[in-house]
Amino acid sequence: MTTTGSTEFDVVVIGGGPAGYATALYGASAGLSVAVIERDKMGGTCLHRGCIPAKEFLETASVLRTVAGSKEFGVESGQPVLDFSVSQGRKQKVVDTLFKGLVGLMKGRGIESFSGSGQLLADRRVRVTGGDETIELSGRNVVLASGSVPRTIPGFEVDGRVVMTSDEVLSLEKEPASVAIIGGGAIGCEFASMFSDLGSQVTVLEALPTLLTGCDEDLIGVVGRSFRKRGIAVHSAVKVSGHSPNGNGTTVSFGDAESVTVDAVILSVGRRPLTEGLLAEGTGVVVDERGFVRVDEYMRTAVDGIWAAGDVVDTPQLAHVGFAEGVVTIKGILGEPVIPVDYSRVPWCIYCHPEVAFVGMSEGQARAAGIEVVVKKDPYGGNSRARIIGDTDGLVKVVCERGADGRAGRILGVHMVGPWVTEQLGQGYMAVNWEATADEIGQFIQPHPTLSESFGETVMALTGRGLHLG
Ligand code: NAI
Repeated sequence: MTTTGSTEFDVVVIGGGPAGYATALYGASAGLSVAVIERDKMGGTCLHRGCIPAKEFLETASVLRTVAGSKEFGVESGQPVLDFSVSQGRKQKVVDTLFKGLVGLMKGRGIESFSGSGQLLADRRVRVTGGDETIELSGRNVVLASGSVPRTIPGFEVDGRVVMTSDEVLSLEKEPASVAIIGGGAIGCEFASMFSDLGSQVTVLEALPTLLTGCDEDLIGVVGRSFRKRGIAVHSAVKVSGHSPNGNGTTVSFGDAESVTVDAVILSVGRRPLTEGLLAEGTGVVVDERGFVRVDEYMRTAVDGIWAAGDVVDTPQLAHVGFAEGVVTIKGILGEPVIPVDYSRVPWCIYCHPEVAFVGMSEGQARAAGIEVVVKKDPYGGNSRARIIGDTDGLVKVVCERGADGRAGRILGVHMVGPWVTEQLGQGYMAVNWEATADEIGQFIQPHPTLSESFGETVMALTGRGLHLG
C-alpha cells in the first residue's frame, strides 16, 4: 500500500481518475509529498470505463470501414468480418498497458497510493476504508476528485445485459444485433456511430430537439445527415416512457405510442457527481442541490485547504478539463499566480464518425450574446488530403467578431466536423485562447496537402483574400 509508512502529506487526493492523478503527478513534480486514495483502479472512468476503451472500439469501427472501402483503392480484401472478442482483447491490452504506465509513473514520482475509499473528516484528515485496514491520513491540503457515474432514468433498471450504461457496454462480449440508445449527447453519438459501423441496427432516442445539443448547428447537421445515410434511426424531441423485456431483448416505448424492439438499451443521459460517503458530517464542504462539490474558480471549496477538481465539480465533464483543474489546484496550493480555467474556451472532441471538435463560441451563441459576427465555412470536399483518403464528409467553420472596419476580427470559435478533426483542433484552440485575429492567423503557413490546412485556408479567406477559398 504505502512504501514509506507516512500518513502525513502535503496533498492527499481522494480519487485516482484524470483529475486526481493529474493533481498528484503535477504536485509531485513540484516537489510536494502526495498520497492518492483509489478504491478501484488508478486511471478512473477515463482509462477503464470511458474515453480510452470507447475510442479503442471506435478505432475498430474505423478499421472495419477502411477495409470495407479498400476496393475503391484497388485493394481487394473481401467482406471484412468482425470478431468482437478479439477487439475486446485488444482494447483490454491497450487499457492494461496504459494502466501499468500510469502506476509506474506515479511510483516513479514518489506518489503514495492507498487502495480503499477515502472519506474527508474534520481538520483535513481522511479516513481510508475497504483496503487491508482502516487508516487515517492527514493532508496540509486535501483534493476531492471522486468523479462521476452514469445517470440512469426511472423504469430502466441497469442489469448489464439488456439495459446498460457506458460502464457495461465497454465490456460486452459480443456486439448486439440491435440497440436503442437513450440520449443523443457525446456518449450516445459515439456509441451510435460505433455500433452502426460494427453492424448493429441503431435507434437513438433524444429528449431535446437535436443530437449534440450545445454544438454549432452546422456540425449537428453534418453528423445527423451522416447518421441518416448509414441507417441510424434518430428520434429527437421524444420522451421515453418505459420498456417491456421479452426474454431476449426488450421493447422501448417512446413519443406518441411509438416503440422499438431491440436486443439492448444503452443509457447515455449524462453523468452525475459521485459524492456518496465522500464527506463525513460537519466538514463544512458545500455540495449543491445537484450533488456537485461547490468550488470557486481556483478549485477551492468553502473550507480552507480543501479543494475539488474533475467531474465532482460542476464544470465540463472532460478528462482534459480534469487535468487542467489539477494544475490550477496545485498552483493554488503552492501559492503561485494562477490563471483559472476559462470554461467557455476549452477544447471539445467527440469521436463519432464523422468526428466533431470545437472550441469557443458557436455562431448561435455569439449571435445570442449580441455579437456581430463574420463566419466562414469550408467543406472538406475541397481539401486535397480529404480527397486522397476518401473521407470528405464535413467542414471547418470559423466564427469571428466583426471588427470596426466591418472585416473579420478576433476569432471567437472554431468548429470542425470531419476526418481526424479531433487531432486538428489544436490550432483553433490556440487561436481562440490567444484571442488572435483572422489577420494574424491567416499569415501562418499550413503544410500542404494536409487536412489541417482547411483551418488555415478558412481563416485566410476571412481576411478578405483567399487561395483556394474565396
Ligand atoms: P450529455 O449531457 O452529453 O448528453 C445526454 C443527452 O441525453 C442530452 O442530449 C439529453 O437531452 C439526453 N437525455 C437526458 N435524459 C433523457 C431521456 N430521459 N430521454 C432521452 N434523452 C435524454 O451526456 P453523455 O453523453 O451521457 O455524456 C456525459 C458526459 O461525459 C458529458 O458531459 C460529456 O460531455 C462527457 N463526455 C464527453 C466525451 C467527449 O468529449 N468525447 C465522450 C463521452 C462523454
